[in-house]
Amino acid sequence: MSILVTGGAGYIGSHTVVELQNAGYEVVVLDNLSNSSKESLNRIKAITGKETVFYQNDINDRAALMEIFQKEKITSCIHFAGLKAVGESVVKPWEYYQNNIAGTLVLLDEMRKHGIKNIIFSSSATVYGDPAFIPITEECPKGTCTNPYGFTKSMLEQILTDMQVADPEWNVILLRYFNPIGAHASGTIGEDPNGIPNNLMPFITQVAVGKLKELGIFGNDYDTPDGTGVRDYIHVVDLANGHVKALSKIAENCGLKIYNLGTGTGYSVFEIIKNFEEATGIKIAYSMKPRRQGDIASCYANADKAKAELDWQAKYGIREMCADAWRWQSQNPRGYGV
Ligand code: NAD
Ligand code: WQD
Repeated sequence: MSILVTGGAGYIGSHTVVELQNAGYEVVVLDNLSNSSKESLNRIKAITGKETVFYQNDINDRAALMEIFQKEKITSCIHFAGLKAVGESVVKPWEYYQNNIAGTLVLLDEMRKHGIKNIIFSSSATVYGDPAFIPITEECPKGTCTNPYGFTKSMLEQILTDMQVADPEWNVILLRYFNPIGAHASGTIGEDPNGIPNNLMPFITQVAVGKLKELGIFGNDYDTPDGTGVRDYIHVVDLANGHVKALSKIAENCGLKIYNLGTGTGYSVFEIIKNFEEATGIKIAYSMKPRRQGDIASCYANADKAKAELDWQAKYGIREMCADAWRWQSQNPRGYGV
């Protein structure tokens, strides 16, 4: 019996494969390597000592999916595969809808044809748009997304919900991640963005390692305590463990469930810089820049539901997130590009 992890060579996927294998699950990874490296799978093996069955294929490839579902004994799918760069999605909306939505439709169709109706989907706090209230509970209404990437998450949530309502044999868990950062404590797997990072923590670690000159802070006039944006940063290993807990929920035939995966605490950009500097002893040069289009002031979770129903709670604090992100970056200045 195996778990199919789509996008399992990527940042969150690779950490989840480690935690799944540590918990005793057999794992099959499907990834087209469009935003990842096969080297991550070698590193996973060095951490867990376990073999990961790997298919380098696209979720749009029906024949490949048929082969996997016929050959492997898959019981559930954790579906990470997707394009995720917010800015790129504005420039290439068709590619995002095609890859994320059309690809997921093919995956779901082949799953049901093979009688596999258990799925955990990587959603995002982005579906709340500019949230109606904070801390954000799962009851907070979904908002208007500010970019095509966000709409792919919101639409896929709707598609999965409608399919589960139409066929209650499906167990569907929508996990809304807040801001994953950090890396495995070994420093051997981590986030390896292509080009100049869009997200705060990889930008900071690349400044720290000397690849980038300084961080630009996007706005200091938000309605937050210090004027910079506040987010709920969550250690990627905690996030990975949330998926292990979600699989136990699926085993209860849970039907449709939605959970926020966050810590419940918000940190501003200035607080992240300060914590990074204190955790690593490295000074981060920065300058002020205008607000980034589409950004909101504050976004952090109420994570009580995941605690009550999944018995899951984030364990790691902001210092560990910073120290682990830095260990990965400093040990692998070029990411997986060995
Ligand atoms: P990532 O890019 O590191 O991982 C995604 C993986 O999917 C990559 O390995 C990529 O090669 C693969 N992939 C993309 N399209 C594919 C396709 N058509 N067929 C097969 N493989 C494909 O990203 P990540 O940060 O690990 O994110 C994983 C998931 O979590 C994504 O769905 C993302 O949208 C979602 N998410 C991420 C964040 C975040 O901040 N990182 C926040 C919320 C949600
Ligand atoms: C965090 C804070 C920025 C970079 C994005 C996606 C979201 C989700 C997670 C997938 C904000 C500030 C950032 C920089 C800065 N991904 N910042 N300088 O925007 O909360 O969320 O990633 O689902 O959908 O939108 O994360 O890390 O980009 O920004 O000042 O160079 O850091 O303005 O306040 P964000 P982020």
